[in-house]
Amino acid sequence: MSWNFSMPVKIYFGNDKVKELPEIIDSFGFERGVLVCSNTLKRNGVADEIIKNCGGRIVAVFHDIRPNPTTDNVNDCVKVLRENDAQFAVALGGGSPMDCCKAACAIAKGEDKIEIYHTGGKPIDKNEVIPMIAVATTSGTGSEITNISVLTDLAKNVKSTMNDPLMYPVAAIVDPKLTLSVPPKVTASTGLDVLAHALESFWSILHQPICESCSVHATRLVFEYLYKAYSEPDNLEAREKMAEASIVAGVAFSNPRTAGSHACSFPLTNLYGVPHGEACAMTLDYFTRFNAEAEGGRLHRFARDCGFKDAYDMADAITSLKKKMGMAMTLTEIGVKTDEEIETLTQMSMTPLLEKNIIPLSYDDVKNMYLSMK
Ligand SMILES: [Fe+2]
Repeated sequence: MSWNFSMPVKIYFGNDKVKELPEIIDSFGFERGVLVCSNTLKRNGVADEIIKNCGGRIVAVFHDIRPNPTTDNVNDCVKVLRENDAQFAVALGGGSPMDCCKAACAIAKGEDKIEIYHTGGKPIDKNEVIPMIAVATTSGTGSEITNISVLTDLAKNVKSTMNDPLMYPVAAIVDPKLTLSVPPKVTASTGLDVLAHALESFWSILHQPICESCSVHATRLVFEYLYKAYSEPDNLEAREKMAEASIVAGVAFSNPRTAGSHACSFPLTNLYGVPHGEACAMTLDYFTRFNAEAEGGRLHRFARDCGFKDAYDMADAITSLKKKMGMAMTLTEIGVKTDEEIETLTQMSMTPLLEKNIIPLSYDDVKNMYLSMK
């Protein structure tokens, strides 16, 4: 066995940690930055409070970002960074502001648009990068500690990942109190994204021991605390534990990446508008059963470490957790009507991420899965 592990992001975890942002900015010697956040965080005053607390270190704010950010969002963000001669950026939010800001920071000091880099035409140049500090407001994506940005190019109708070692944030602030206002439906979806990161990195062909240990820890936390955080939004302990699960699952998939459920989530989101985590969860129990016997029952041992009888028992628990939180269970529910649509879903799911699954997934495997979900 051969593996590498790297985690260059400084992590600051705890309630009210966001109040330490000015000191954290100063510790890096940064002076002039731009805040990147969602429209909601700008509207509800959270962004303004942070800017005020930063006392002049933040000189502008960019908040025109749609869920599942587009390359156009990134180009607009880059424009603001360049106009303000930003030395750094603070990304405040869930995955969308984070991914948008990460890509924008990677090319901020250059002159080109993101599309050239997104398609792999131009490599990220260290002379064009500005550093990013990530402040997480949801417990889910793990984007605050990965070098991955998922972007949608509307002109090409493609949603794909962009990543580079130069795209890691320099610091991640995880303040569970910031997640108290996340609505139940979003808590459910983002929490299931955490579970997908933990499980898929475990059954990725790139799995390795450090990340596997993180997968076990994060999975246990999700099964213990996600439903509590969903049904009791003010339960700070549940919020803390889900924030912990999110960051630990972020470490879990930071090196091995994800696999089948994330590959299939992209068309489910793009074509049918299913939120990212809910879209990943739609196929997660199926893939758990599909992968159960691989590599001498490795997943059964994992499931037992997480308190289940075996992998099938864990798959049943995923199904029941999704049901309890009102997540989509069938393709009909999300608007898939014909077998032709299933064909399209299958075609669009056939991305390189599928090749990371511990059992190679063929076109027919994926199509049969979708047919079973009608
Ligand atoms: Fe994800």
